[in-house]
Amino acid sequence: MTSFASFFSLLLISSLLLGSHLSLTSAQTSPPLVRGLSFDFHRSTCPRLERIIRDELNNAFRRDIGLAAALLRIHFHDCFVQGCDASVLLEGSVAGPGEQEAPPNLTLRPDAIRLLNDLRERVHRACGQVVSCSDITALAARDAVVLTGGPEYRVPLGRRDGHNFATREDTINNLPSPLATARQLIDSLRTKGLDPTDIVALSGGHTIGRSLCTSFTNRLYPNQDPTMDPGYAANLKRTCPRADSNGTTMLDVQTPNMFDNRYYINLRNRQGLLTSDQDLFMDSTTRPIVTRFAENQRFFFERFAFSMIKMGMLNVTTGTQGEIRANCSRRNPPRSTYLTTMLDEEGESAAF
Ligand code: HEM
Ligand SMILES: *[C@@H]1O[C@H](CO)[C@@H](O)[C@H](O)[C@H]1NC(C)=O
Ligand SMILES: *[C@@H]1O[C@H](CO)[C@@H](O)[C@H](O)[C@H]1NC(C)=O
Ligand SMILES: *[C@@H]1O[C@H](CO)[C@@H](O)[C@H](O)[C@H]1NC(C)=O
Ligand SMILES: *[C@@H]1O[C@H](CO)[C@@H](O)[C@H](O)[C@H]1NC(C)=O
Repeated sequence: MTSFASFFSLLLISSLLLGSHLSLTSAQTSPPLVRGLSFDFHRSTCPRLERIIRDELNNAFRRDIGLAAALLRIHFHDCFVQGCDASVLLEGSVAGPGEQEAPPNLTLRPDAIRLLNDLRERVHRACGQVVSCSDITALAARDAVVLTGGPEYRVPLGRRDGHNFATREDTINNLPSPLATARQLIDSLRTKGLDPTDIVALSGGHTIGRSLCTSFTNRLYPNQDPTMDPGYAANLKRTCPRADSNGTTMLDVQTPNMFDNRYYINLRNRQGLLTSDQDLFMDSTTRPIVTRFAENQRFFFERFAFSMIKMGMLNVTTGTQGEIRANCSRRNPPRSTYLTTMLDEEGESAAF
């Protein structure tokens, strides 16, 4: 109850400070922007964009704070599979089961996908069909962080939505497993240009949200993981009496709905939930980073914002590639050959 009350006063404070937050400028440390993205991409075409999204999410999170975690995870999931092109939002697939049907989908909460479509509708009503679902997803993830108490940061914009469905294989091959060790994460995420500090910082996303038992019962059965605090393990066994129990629990046992550095303090106390979480503290490369974040929330916030911007630029579709979807859940209907030819000749393919 107390944490709930303090959460809402926090929301209130965030709303009051919103004006000044949004005016944060280039003072932030940011990785170099990829070609085609800029902080003011929509400044003249959709000046109210960020305000519309922030206000709407503020309302939505009052109804269900779990949506914040869901939106953050959707952006991560989108960017890791085929780049941040909103392919994660596409319903169905031409090439067999797509991202939404692959096993790691389980926290792609349908409510959060509906919420993104709702945001898209409001934005397009205000500005026309000029902002992509992938930009809206990136902004929604940022606001999920801010409105639960995390760092404010500016999001590079100008992404366009991809034409391509991601396959089940793409999804499975690109999303890290909760059973992964820190070493495996370092080796596999290097291919995406992410270094150990990025990995530790981004894993801090697990300071909010929930997980199914099946993502961590490997640490309880048949043998209890010796790197887990025994009291914590006993509680988890009550939530998940069997390896295939269908219960859920919060990823950050101490402050489940607050974006803070508690996640790292939990890791130090051996109260990390997933193998991929706890091993960040057991591994000698990542342990000092965990310790720094546990000791200094401000440093964590700075590094988290930096790595989120980096993640948000993975293999983005920009310029005249891709499209601005009219409905985030499906690709735009194909244009007629006549129109396509005409528009291409006019060099105006972006206007559709
Ligand atoms: C480093 C590799 C990562 C692994 C192995 C991983 C794995 C997982 C797993 C297994 C779950 C629970 C899913 C379920 O059982 O329903 C989860 C939830 C979540 N993850 Fe990650 N994740 C990783 C990175 C990230 C990143 C980079 C972010 C964002 C910055 C993130 C944000 C979240 C959030 C917010 C949730 C909770 C979602 C909800 O409550 O709906 N994760 N993750
Ligand atoms: C997630 O995938 C499972 C099958 O792996 C499917 O039954 C379920 O409907 C999917 N959930 C969502 C939200 O797409
Ligand atoms: C971008 O996509 C290509 C495949 O199309 C892949 O080889 C490459 O690793 C991706 N780059 C990043 C940074 O994810
Ligand atoms: C999940 O567990 C609840 C009881 O905790 C049960 O009522 C429900 O049927 C279970 N669902 C599945 C899909 O096993
Ligand atoms: C968007 O597309 C989905 C999937 O085809 C559909 O179910 C939904 O009704 C569409 N939404 C709107 C507003 O047209």
